[in-house]
Amino acid sequence: MKLSEVHRISVVGAGIMGHGIAQTMATGGYDVCLNDISAEVLQRALERVRSNLRIFVDNGFITSQDAERALARISPEPDIKQAVKDADIVIEAVKEDIEVKREVFNRLGAVCKPTAVLASNSSSLLISDFASDTPGQDRVVLTHWFNPPHIVPTVEIIRGKFTSDETVDLMYDLLKKVKKLPARINKEIPGYLLNRIQFAMLREVWYLWREGIASAEDIDLAVKGSLGFRLASIGPLITSDLGGQDTFCAVAKYLLPLLDDSHAPPDAYVSMVESGHLGLKTGKGFFDYSNEEWEAIIEKRDKEFLQRLKTLYW
Ligand SMILES: NC(=O)c1ccc[n+]([C@@H]2O[C@H](COP(=O)([O-])OP(=O)(O)OC[C@H]3O[C@@H](n4cnc5c(N)ncnc54)[C@H](O)[C@@H]3O)[C@@H](O)[C@H]2O)c1
Repeated sequence: MKLSEVHRISVVGAGIMGHGIAQTMATGGYDVCLNDISAEVLQRALERVRSNLRIFVDNGFITSQDAERALARISPEPDIKQAVKDADIVIEAVKEDIEVKREVFNRLGAVCKPTAVLASNSSSLLISDFASDTPGQDRVVLTHWFNPPHIVPTVEIIRGKFTSDETVDLMYDLLKKVKKLPARINKEIPGYLLNRIQFAMLREVWYLWREGIASAEDIDLAVKGSLGFRLASIGPLITSDLGGQDTFCAVAKYLLPLLDDSHAPPDAYVSMVESGHLGLKTGKGFFDYSNEEWEAIIEKRDKEFLQRLKTLYW
């Protein structure tokens, strides 16, 4: 299928990721059918899209007419068969559970058009592991978006064992068209590219926090004002080219044997999670949010992200 033949896109799963993916496709000009097993989630998803679009308008990304048109392009549909039967592309964003994803992909394989491209937004699983029974293995692919998906530019495209070049190219072109920054990942590997990098960093961050080397506040402050500041503009490999490979290589030889190499998250972190401190959604994680409004925190984050998006990518 060519990009010019794509008209209808369906998003299955309307939670944190699904609603933002649907919004991106709708602002990009596509008719989107949004599905979820929960009617309540589906309703909330549209409210979230409306609120996100208002922030886009307030920050000069789109006009209020664009926002109205985008909202009108999204149709909520609680019945998965109805939601996907006419879709040219389906993007699955249901929960990260291999059996749930397998069931959804089997269903999609049975009810979608035989030409439809089926993409999953899993953040760690391999498409070959849960879509192996889906007909048309050349048309299944992973597209890994980042939260908030309607703002963060990069989307990883990870090909499965049998994904065709045509499918990868189509998703690449589609993502470019809706103003994303797609990156092709040539081989399936757990965690793909970016979660491998993110969790390598988190392993060391958790270690430094557990050992009391710095407070949670100072760790976040230091990382965002240095590594984060640089990485927003230049990648890690160019950073090391500019800094000098002799220096980076010498530091690596000294430091790598001293870094944390645990194969599990530290007990202190697991206890925090097991005692229900899950972050913003429970009012406490590394930081305390009990006196703050959830919406206000997300809106503040999104406004800052949008400023960066405008400066660097729009
Ligand atoms: N949250 C993140 O930061 C993030 C980032 C990148 C990728 N992802 C991935 O995106 C996917 C979705 O994550 P999320 O954070 O949006 O989760 P979420 O829990 O917010 O949303 C998942 C939604 O899927 C719905 N659902 C479950 N089974 C379904 C089914 N059979 N049919 C239709 N809908 C169904 C649920 O009702 C829920 O609303 C996961 O694979 C996750 O790993 C998440």
